Amino acid sequence: MDILPAIVLAFWFILPAYAANGLAVVFGKGSRLNKPLDFGHNFIDKRRIFGDGKTFRGLIGGVAFGTLIGALQLISGEQIALPWLSSNAPIGFWVTLAYILGASQITLYFLIYQWLASTPLFFILMGLPANSRAILAPSIFHGFLLSFGALIGDLIGSFIKRRLNLERGHPTPPLDQLDFIVGALVFSFIIFIPPLEIIIVLLVLTPMIHLTANIIGYKLGLKKEPW
Ligand code: CTP
Ligand code: MG
Repeated sequence: MDILPAIVLAFWFILPAYAANGLAVVFGKGSRLNKPLDFGHNFIDKRRIFGDGKTFRGLIGGVAFGTLIGALQLISGEQIALPWLSSNAPIGFWVTLAYILGASQITLYFLIYQWLASTPLFFILMGLPANSRAILAPSIFHGFLLSFGALIGDLIGSFIKRRLNLERGHPTPPLDQLDFIVGALVFSFIIFIPPLEIIIVLLVLTPMIHLTANIIGYKLGLKKEPW
């Protein structure tokens, strides 16, 4: 796969996880009807299990929003991305294939055209991974798994930080940047394993995006530190 399609597919694929992780910050703000997920309890080492930065509102709001993003991806994938891709398919291939299959009639030709536009062979011929359909038009359940996995990964990241005696909010690269990606990928694996290129793109680019976003937030005065 070329690098550009790999990057586009990678970010489309992981979008619910990014949305869940980002929106947890928005939903988690404030203490009204909000409780920390560990209810303020300590672990056996007498330190907080997760800390005050992991709340019920953050988790529920993040997962709900991420799942909604997944649903919007399904609609836009089916309505826009897949039709666009099939309209860009090399026409010579379809003609040859229709010929091989003995389809002389134009109707049969279009039927084959429509049908193939959603098969693995179609994506391979377009230079994309065979399972691209599941990325372009993911199921809503997949959106849920990516969102939920992202926030479980984030939670495990906090659990590790507390065991290392790092207080809430202490910058801990690359754990802070990668915990939610790894969580999202692991939960995604339950129903879908993305191509290796996509996993590599995400693990390499996410820390860079995270850092860039933080520097912008710092320059805009939204964050106290540029990391
Ligand atoms: N947040 C939340 N619930 C979650 C995840 C995040 O309420 N499940 C909110 C919290 O307000 C948190 C903010 O999003 O402070 C930023 O999240 P993050 O950077 O992951 O948490 P930190 O405050 O840095 O805490 P930690 O040291 O545990 O990572
Ligand atoms: Mg943090």
